Amino acid sequence: MNYDNPQVAETANLLRARFAELDDKRDILRAVEMKALFDGIREVAPEERSSYGQQVNQLRQELQAMVDDATAAESALPPIDVTAPFDVNTPLDKKPSLLPSETGNVHPLMSELATVLDIFYRMGFTAVESREIDDDFHMFGALNFPEGHPARDDYDTFMTEQADANGQAYIAPAHTSSMQHRVLTEGKSLLEQGKPIAAVIPGRVFRNEDLDARHEHTFYQLEGVYVDKGVNAGHLIATLKTFLQEYYGKALEVKTQPFYFPFTEPSFEFALSCPFCDKQGCSICSQAGWIELLGCGMIHPNVLREAGIDTNVYTGFAWGGGIERLVMMKNNIEDIRHFESGRLEFLRQFS
Ligand code: DAH
Repeated sequence: MNYDNPQVAETANLLRARFAELDDKRDILRAVEMKALFDGIREVAPEERSSYGQQVNQLRQELQAMVDDATAAESALPPIDVTAPFDVNTPLDKKPSLLPSETGNVHPLMSELATVLDIFYRMGFTAVESREIDDDFHMFGALNFPEGHPARDDYDTFMTEQADANGQAYIAPAHTSSMQHRVLTEGKSLLEQGKPIAAVIPGRVFRNEDLDARHEHTFYQLEGVYVDKGVNAGHLIATLKTFLQEYYGKALEVKTQPFYFPFTEPSFEFALSCPFCDKQGCSICSQAGWIELLGCGMIHPNVLREAGIDTNVYTGFAWGGGIERLVMMKNNIEDIRHFESGRLEFLRQFS
């Protein structure tokens, strides 16, 4: 299309060239140069106005037609073939590499979790995966948090609008302890056979948190549960110390201080001597020499009873702590938010 008006002709050339470069072809219809041409009608001498107006309209139609053609061509693309892009009988060594290793690797948390679980397997524990949605009974009731108990407020998390049969919301669990009741009830038959209940429970947990370098709304915990005849707090401390020494590959000191959890009695906060400075104080332990790592204690008799376990015969210990914390310390990672960020420059450091 040729335009006699030099201004229209110039804009037409400019916009045709730009059109080729555009990702979204429809943007050409919003070009400021087009608006300038329309606005220019007022300034054109009255005797040229009608011819100018016609040419501007014609240019607008030309652009619209180009856009229509481009979108029609796009929608005419062949559909994606979702079947395997090679013959099913292709020998293994001739198959194309569809997921080359540069495009993905195991997330650092998951590879570290495998190391953690391997240590516990060697210590005789089994692993049970936790749930990402649970109910009020497993989150609170079975763990000796009575209805309306103030300790429930420490586990503020996300709930569904949908209610269960008891009219209570489903809960995105704030800790892996919500699995304790299941592990205890299922493990009861082991006790009857003279075997201990020994389980670790890795899982994703959720909290309504103010986010910072040490707090995330979504993170992972590892819970541990051990029940048998004659189990005491010495067994708890020895188990955790053995695990941590194996994980950090060196001798460590540990200490406990009294704490409160409704589901343990007594309850402890468990700290270990900083594996990086041997109690001298460094950036990893915030100069304290010690690192508070997890909560633990002797399982409260009400929790055992709720699972039908005879508290005159059996006692047990449990613990729960964040997995990110372990991994952050081991790899000197300064911000917990990196794990869920999906940032490749973070993830590739572990490939
Ligand atoms: N569930 C607790 C929390 O997330 C941690 C914990 C403390 C777990 C004591 C236990 C335990 O199993 O015995 O804060």
